[in-house]
Amino acid sequence: MKLAVLSQQEGETRVALTPAVVKSLTTAGHEVLIETGAGLGSHANDTSYQEAGAKVVSGVDATTLCSEVDIVLTINPPSIEQVSQMRDGAVLVGMLSPLSNLELIKALANRAVTAISLEFIPRITRAQAMDVLSSQANMAGYKAVILAADACPKMFPMMMTAAGTIAPSRVFVIGAGVAGLQAIATAKRLGAIVEAYDVRPEVEEQVQSLGGRFVKLPTTKQETSTSGGYAKQQTDEERRQQVELMTKHVMTADAVITTAAIFGKAPPLLIPADVVRQMRSGSVIVDIAADTQIGRGNCEMTKPGQRCITDNGVIIEGTLNLPGCLPVHASQAYANNLQALLKEMIDTEGNLKLDQEDEIQNSATITHAGQVVNTMVMEAIKT
Ligand code: NAI
Repeated sequence: MKLAVLSQQEGETRVALTPAVVKSLTTAGHEVLIETGAGLGSHANDTSYQEAGAKVVSGVDATTLCSEVDIVLTINPPSIEQVSQMRDGAVLVGMLSPLSNLELIKALANRAVTAISLEFIPRITRAQAMDVLSSQANMAGYKAVILAADACPKMFPMMMTAAGTIAPSRVFVIGAGVAGLQAIATAKRLGAIVEAYDVRPEVEEQVQSLGGRFVKLPTTKQETSTSGGYAKQQTDEERRQQVELMTKHVMTADAVITTAAIFGKAPPLLIPADVVRQMRSGSVIVDIAADTQIGRGNCEMTKPGQRCITDNGVIIEGTLNLPGCLPVHASQAYANNLQALLKEMIDTEGNLKLDQEDEIQNSATITHAGQVVNTMVMEAIKT
């Protein structure tokens, strides 16, 4: 197979393949082409890719890279121009955010490209090694707490000093999925008192095993999870109840880390502006769910991509690409996820093995043989 690694747009520090993964692909007989400088954001230079057996391309060769290969690997969606160069039947693998990039998806279908969007890999045991949402959210949860500790005018751990005893900070984590659980573990390691809430009561044990206290809210919600293990979307009344019952935990926290998400939907609004106005000056919200398209995150006052301070002195952090703040490890995990997926897609003879009967490939394939094949994306295109 001939594979290409694209250089990312401005603002992205991660790279799809690390030299270590390139080495194992080239050792297995594949050819890897990489745009010059693609690894610089994650501290991997062209020489390290060349030493791993990749061909580094620049100038005109880089602009036509997509037309040269069988598989294009990327972190974020490529440009429409790059898609227009791809060969009929070529494969594109990356975090394509298809629901927010419908024009790109149509272009991919028109080019008869098989587009595999890694966010759609199912969260099943066999796919764990390929689960970029988990590998990247894990980094985001860690970095969110580091940002909170940095922005917070208090220390996180308890200190008993000659100058008196300093009480530990209180951290409240909303949403105990992958990012939330890592946030709990990180805040705990820093010595904070950690509370967490999730609509799925089954995560209570996981929260406790990390040293957090699971907050129970007596809401009337009946069913909280889908069969895929994701949270179900709440009704407005359920969300209103949750906001009301959660307010005292938000108000007494020194740092709130919000990670609540419903797959494929806008993040639920859980900290309205009037709750922020009741928070203490100097308290911090790190809103991992910040979303540019929605213009907020779980908190109404979040400005996606910015850190802001409210009139009452609450610091709200809306940094968007948190894994990109840890590009070395985020790229390492992403490249390992890709390698695991490529093993499923390439047979031992080195030929493409696309199989729509396979649960993983089927779930993650957005376009194939000239058609949009993912139901969620098809629905979004129709509406
Ligand atoms: P996940 O799906 O593993 O976890 C989300 C959790 O939120 C689930 O446990 C779910 O039950 C919970 N939840 C849903 N509605 C809730 C509610 N109303 N109240 C409390 N909990 C609720 O998702 P993951 O991977 O942990 O990601 C969390 C969020 O972080 C997502 O919005 C994701 O897009 C975002 N993210 C942001 C990054 C960044 O750089 N800013 C990087 C990675 C993820």
